[in-house]
Amino acid sequence: MTFLITGANRGIGFALTKEILKKKHKVIAAVRNLKAKNLLQLEEENIDIMHLDISDYNSIVDFSAQLKCEVDILINNAGVLFKDSFPELKYEDFLNSFKVNTLGALFLTQELYKNKKLKKGGKIVNIDSILGSISNTRTTPSYCYSISKAALNMATKLLSNYFLKEDILVFSVHPGWVKTDMGGKNAPITPEESAKNIINLIENVKETGKFYDYTGKEIEW
Ligand SMILES: NC(=O)c1ccc[n+]([C@@H]2O[C@H](COP(=O)([O-])OP(=O)(O)OC[C@H]3O[C@@H](n4cnc5c(N)ncnc54)[C@H](OP(=O)(O)O)[C@@H]3O)[C@@H](O)[C@H]2O)c1
Repeated sequence: MTFLITGANRGIGFALTKEILKKKHKVIAAVRNLKAKNLLQLEEENIDIMHLDISDYNSIVDFSAQLKCEVDILINNAGVLFKDSFPELKYEDFLNSFKVNTLGALFLTQELYKNKKLKKGGKIVNIDSILGSISNTRTTPSYCYSISKAALNMATKLLSNYFLKEDILVFSVHPGWVKTDMGGKNAPITPEESAKNIINLIENVKETGKFYDYTGKEIEW
């Protein structure tokens, strides 16, 4: 199978890449920096490293046109978190968060589909966050993150309905609180543990249009 992973050069995306390669699948690692040492050191023949700045629409269009093969599993993983609090919200941080966390995933999916790169019977996995769950919200370390991830959840739901006709499952996944640059060093879960669980979930998921945590438990929108 062919997996396409955005933000594959570090954190959860890199852990997913390593675990998927161990399973002998092919990985297209979509990254901003083609010289990312992590990826180059893997020395794997099953990996293609391609340039993609998910915040740039032209980059998404170019990437999707240049991609040579069809994708079984698209993992929209790239994300950004800018800490903020009301009433000190920053307009620029909202724009950047929406470009990466919401529009990046949505427009990459659209461009791949229009270029016939999404395989029938495949899956689209949007890496979301419990902080994007409206039902579970009390407070947040970042308004722009929570709001952009809640919007990503709406994209998941709408796309899941559209892709019924293509037999493609679309779902959101909260990866847990993970020890990465974003999650910080106090996070209880390693990227490898999160990645193994997410892959297990991807392999076993049968229902479209749902929001799961990395253990497979359903989360309320
Ligand atoms: N860690 C957690 O506790 C946690 C919890 C819930 C949800 N999540 C979600 O899990 C996903 C991965 O998070 P992480 O913890 O692995 O974060 P991370 O360590 O900060 O890594 C973020 C990844 O996204 C990429 N990225 C950011 N902006 C990009 C852009 N414009 N174009 C292409 N790639 C871009 C980064 O690439 P560069 O190296 O080029 O910046 C990097 O590979 C995110 O969607 C995040 O919201 C994480």
